[in-house]
Amino acid sequence: MKGVILAGGKATRLRPLTYVTNKHLLPIYNKPMIYYPLESMVRAGIKDVLMITGPDHAGHFLNLLRSGGDFRLKLAYEIQDEAGGLSQAVSLARSFADNEKILVILGDNIFTHDLSGAVADFEKQGRGAKIFAKPMNNAQQYGVIEIDKSGKVISIEEKPKQPKSNLVQTGIYMYDDQVFDFIDQLKPSTRGELEITDLNNLYLKQGTLTCEVMSGWWVDAGTSFAELLRANNQVAEEIKKQEK
Ligand code: G1P
Repeated sequence: MKGVILAGGKATRLRPLTYVTNKHLLPIYNKPMIYYPLESMVRAGIKDVLMITGPDHAGHFLNLLRSGGDFRLKLAYEIQDEAGGLSQAVSLARSFADNEKILVILGDNIFTHDLSGAVADFEKQGRGAKIFAKPMNNAQQYGVIEIDKSGKVISIEEKPKQPKSNLVQTGIYMYDDQVFDFIDQLKPSTRGELEITDLNNLYLKQGTLTCEVMSGWWVDAGTSFAELLRANNQVAEEIKKQEK
């Protein structure tokens, strides 16, 4: 399985921090934000990772991460010319994926859950996709997942005003090689983007979408200043725990 990290976008919610730099290069405690999804890839056992970012800051990513050797990874780079949504960004991984399954992680998602078990399971299973969930208090800021008693997904709604549950869709996704044909079928949402939730809903309709609830803590550090601060504090605590 190959890895894809999405690190583009305008990060308007974090302005003025993001006027002249990319959100994923902001510090989270003692490292740039982008280090955390990369380290999650390493922990998951992924060796080939594609970094997708916008043209404005691509050079900074290259300066910082180079070949990926520091992380024991092989890094490739792809440019998303315009911010056209997460699914549009994933579509740029078509030739890199080369019919292999992919693990996609959003560059601002920081978490402790070890994905290596899920990678092994997903490699064995037939066609489909897997999403990763976490209960959150302010679910309306995220994609919201409704599941039945057996853990089967019933619906996913992007930032609903009235969330049907407190279970949110994190920025971690696994896809088989159908993903690129599914993205071709997507239409832009009202905000003019190809949404990741619409993509996941196509797998749901096909009956091949599975969902895993994650252990540990998870932060989408790009949501707000409060979440950015929480990411810093969680990492600091984690380091303190390890030093004990
Ligand atoms: C994106 C997805 C959303 C998901 C979130 C997780 O939202 O659209 O479904 O819950 O990532 O990080 P964004 O943070 O881009 O608004």
